[in-house]
Amino acid sequence: MSSKIPGSLLLLSAILLWSSFPVNADTPPSDKEITQKTGREEIIEKGEEAAKRLIHALKAHLTKAIKSKGVVSAVKYCSLAAEGLSGSVNDTLKKDGVNVKRVSDRFRNPANKPDRTDLVAIRYFRDSLKRDSYLPPYYITKQGAQTRYYKPIRIGKLCLKCHGTEKDIPKAVAKYLREHYPEDRATGYKEGDLRGVIRVTLNSN
Ligand code: HEC
Repeated sequence: MSSKIPGSLLLLSAILLWSSFPVNADTPPSDKEITQKTGREEIIEKGEEAAKRLIHALKAHLTKAIKSKGVVSAVKYCSLAAEGLSGSVNDTLKKDGVNVKRVSDRFRNPANKPDRTDLVAIRYFRDSLKRDSYLPPYYITKQGAQTRYYKPIRIGKLCLKCHGTEKDIPKAVAKYLREHYPEDRATGYKEGDLRGVIRVTLNSN
């Protein structure tokens, strides 16, 4: 190959380097820019905090139920306790005008069916994962006085016992799921798949 390549690469990097420097590096940001930035950082902070509270509550109970009673009892426990747990997490967030909920395009419980905005968020995460093998950490969107912060939920090893393919799910668990969720769409996942999202609704007051 010719020796021209390193030269043109050098030129290219020089151009990239130059163009990545802001022209007015010493101009202070305007008040508006500061407000916008603070607003966004606050949304991320509140959204993360609320999502983590829900994940923590659900995971702690799930792990404990599996460890102490096995996966068959855990599936019963999960199905009975999930809404109650979300409810108590929401009680702690209410005073700040925050609400948190799990939704999935392949939902098990119809109460977790996504609305149109949820679907946009799910598509955003799924497309990015498919295209770049990269899962963005959040998606933010505004709806009137409400802001929604979305956090993706992925399938881990633990989840396969109740959301995996036929060979992952113990027979008794499959039976329970058939009886209690006749329209279950939440099986057939593989490790790493996008399972759904946590939707955090922030009301500006
Ligand atoms: C022991 C069985 C079991 C395991 C293990 C389990 N789940 Fe579930 N999952 C359920 C059941 C049952 C529901 C339905 C809960 C309800 O009725 O509200 C559910 C619901 C969900 C939902 C709500 C959306 C929907 O489809 O209704 C999400 C999201 C979810 N699970 C994610 C996960 C993830 C992620 C893991 C692994 C960390 C996991 N689950 C592990 C049994 C399980």
